[in-house]
Amino acid sequence: MFNKLSLKIGFLFFIFILIIETFLYFVLYTNLANEQIEEVMDNLLARGNTHSAVLEENFNQTTLEHVAIMESESDFAVVITDVSGDVIVHSDPIEQEMIDVIAHTDYKQMPDEGKVLEERWPEKKYIATDSPITINEEHQGHVFMFADTNNIRRIVDHLSDQFIVVGLITIILTIITVFILSRLITKPLLKMKEATEQLSKGRHKVELHTDRRDELGELAASITTLSDDLERLKNERNEFLASISHELRTPLTYLKGYADIISRGDISGNERNEYIEIIREETEQLVVLVKNLFELAKMDQNRFIINKENVVFGNLIHTITERIRPALEEKNITFSVRCPSHINAHIDPERIQQVLLNILDNAKKHTSQGKRISLEVSQNKRDIITMISDEGEGIPEEDLPYIFERLYRVEKSRSRLSGGTGLGLAIAKEIVEFHGGTIKVRSKLGEGTSFIMTLQRGDSHE
Ligand SMILES: Nc1ncnc2c1ncn2[C@@H]1O[C@H](COP(=O)(O)OP(=O)(O)OP(=O)(O)O)[C@@H](O)[C@H]1O
Ligand SMILES: [Mg+2]
Repeated sequence: MFNKLSLKIGFLFFIFILIIETFLYFVLYTNLANEQIEEVMDNLLARGNTHSAVLEENFNQTTLEHVAIMESESDFAVVITDVSGDVIVHSDPIEQEMIDVIAHTDYKQMPDEGKVLEERWPEKKYIATDSPITINEEHQGHVFMFADTNNIRRIVDHLSDQFIVVGLITIILTIITVFILSRLITKPLLKMKEATEQLSKGRHKVELHTDRRDELGELAASITTLSDDLERLKNERNEFLASISHELRTPLTYLKGYADIISRGDISGNERNEYIEIIREETEQLVVLVKNLFELAKMDQNRFIINKENVVFGNLIHTITERIRPALEEKNITFSVRCPSHINAHIDPERIQQVLLNILDNAKKHTSQGKRISLEVSQNKRDIITMISDEGEGIPEEDLPYIFERLYRVEKSRSRLSGGTGLGLAIAKEIVEFHGGTIKVRSKLGEGTSFIMTLQRGDSHE
């Protein structure tokens, strides 16, 4: 369970905290140790000063010996010299180091309040102070105090021991905290990893708790959305495949049926020609269906190429209307076109033509004789808006949300007269969206339908 990420996070946390703690402890330790050492030095000097004060009152042999006896019972040693540095009394045996200190002292420079002579406790056996005995503003002698540096070492060692114990406790607490913290972060991550593994294995419904309000919660929410999307896509794909097989089965049944009849040979030449014509039509429709499906597949794989160029939109509209007009006139449909001449667009003219022809073709299919179809182009600051309206049968409200879906037809039966492939609007929508535009529909049953295509303006676009 102790995975790489929690290890990494934990390790980093730990190192950082350790560095900070070490620094803080070092500062604290140094300050505390220095304070304690200073206190020992001050105490020693104060003790020497007390002796010298007593001696300043009574500078005689009795008092001197009294001081020496007092210190012989204590942890300290006292050496009292006369003004020239010759030893008068001492409490403990005099060692070479003491003699060195006394010999190296500049008596004349000694301030009345005394001073610390030796403070290098890590190297020396004794620390030392000197408190001059000043009578009538003249130095009469010196009280040298010595303290064994082992005492200081003991204090410092004791402090070190305490710090080691506290340090160890801190490290253990840090490790525990880091462990819990990194688990807190990595546990949901692990869950998410498992969830995504499940996703890639094809189990598209994952349950993640997304009640966290932080980035991890957001990630979990995204993964849940992803799984929902995948689930939806899977269903869509299944439905799509089902529709395609249905779409293919019908014409193929026709083809086989008519081919069978023809091959039986017991039909007239006229019938035969009629059936061959049906077979031809069905095959053509199949070819269109497959071509359209292939086109959509390319769009899905983003292998669909749009060759944008600067186009005078009016010219494009003119070409399109001239192409569709004969078919509309044949059906006795009035066709009105309004398009300002100065509109420029940056589009793939072939593709947009395909879109508009499909919408017009739909309008033609669903508008009865004598009615009217209009095409109007306008532009605002950002967009070119093309609206194609018909006075046809309209689209039922419940079908409106789906008409851009693949293979969706309002008229479900696939009659050869009205039946398109149901892919035209799906392709149109993809093309327009590839252009960064939108396509919308408004329709009222029995009154007519309008398709509104919005494209970004050419000049502002480039
Ligand atoms: N102007 C319209 N009036 C009424 N219904 C429409 C209109 N345009 C589209 N529809 C409905 O929307 C459905 C989808 O249109 P779409 O163009 O995608 O498919 P199609 O025309 O049936 O087939 P294809 O365009 O692939 O030959 C149509 O089958 C039709 O029912
Ligand atoms: Mg169509």
